[in-house]
Amino acid sequence: MPEADKEGKNYFLDQPVTTEGFFLKGSNSLDWGMKNRLSKIFNPATGRTVMLAIDHGYFQGPTTGLERIDVTIVPLMPYADTLMLTRGILRTTIPPTYTGGIVIRASGGPSILKDLSNEQIAVDMEDALRLNAAALAVQVFIGGTFETQSVHNMTRLVDMGARFGMPILAVTAVGKDMVRDARYFRLACRICAELGAQYVKTYYVEEGFETVAASCPVPLVMAGGKKIPELDALTMSYRAIQEGAAGVDMGRNIFQSDAPIAMIQAVRGVVHDNLKPKQAYELFLELRQAGEKSAKKRSAKK
Ligand code: R5P
Repeated sequence: MPEADKEGKNYFLDQPVTTEGFFLKGSNSLDWGMKNRLSKIFNPATGRTVMLAIDHGYFQGPTTGLERIDVTIVPLMPYADTLMLTRGILRTTIPPTYTGGIVIRASGGPSILKDLSNEQIAVDMEDALRLNAAALAVQVFIGGTFETQSVHNMTRLVDMGARFGMPILAVTAVGKDMVRDARYFRLACRICAELGAQYVKTYYVEEGFETVAASCPVPLVMAGGKKIPELDALTMSYRAIQEGAAGVDMGRNIFQSDAPIAMIQAVRGVVHDNLKPKQAYELFLELRQAGEKSAKKRSAKK
């Protein structure tokens, strides 16, 4: 039996009890567990995230740059706030010592050979909890052949997520023949948020991205898309952040760069330190050069 506590005096009666708002847009009414998971994805100091997307294999197999994730991606992990990936790659290849957020791809089914919009839920909530996921990602095909089915996948995950405190990331997928403009993305992002997604991944558009971000009541992260020159990818990221995105979820523009470690650090500069595109590109060039020098030294020692 512990001895009785002496009566304390530290009630700080002159200080009102702190009631802090949560740092992410539209997230103040979420429960503690969900906020804590979101804080593993978004850095509370900046309110932003660099998610490294490596989930491409779930529909297109060993994508260029992802053939050997143990060799090419594991060295990038220290620079990623979050990894977005499948549970297969997580279990087989990612060291469990990684302490950043894990966002698990939770929809799938069709391969690149079929209609990609025909997805189903592909992960059980129990397994996501076992894997200590910080969020689950689901593709939503607004305007696609299986639009309703994909929205239903999302709403089912949102309901399961609400039971267990698991945030759901809705990924707005654009079919080949669809117009990628602000009007379309305003529609797609707003539908995802209205139906309960805790955050949304969407593409950048040159005209009107700020209206996409403003009309979406939850945080938006910018999707990377196909590989473009590094300066262009940094410029796109800069604009998206300045126009209201809370981070990026980028894959090919990082791991298909000829210097992925330099590129992910340059992207971090844009996202977390508000580096201008030119400054970030200079950082990329410096880090690439330093990387090349140390690679030469290493091979000379062999
Ligand atoms: C599919 O649409 C997925 O979201 C991708 O597999 C991935 O996350 C895309 O990343 P990125 O376009 O930046 O390579």
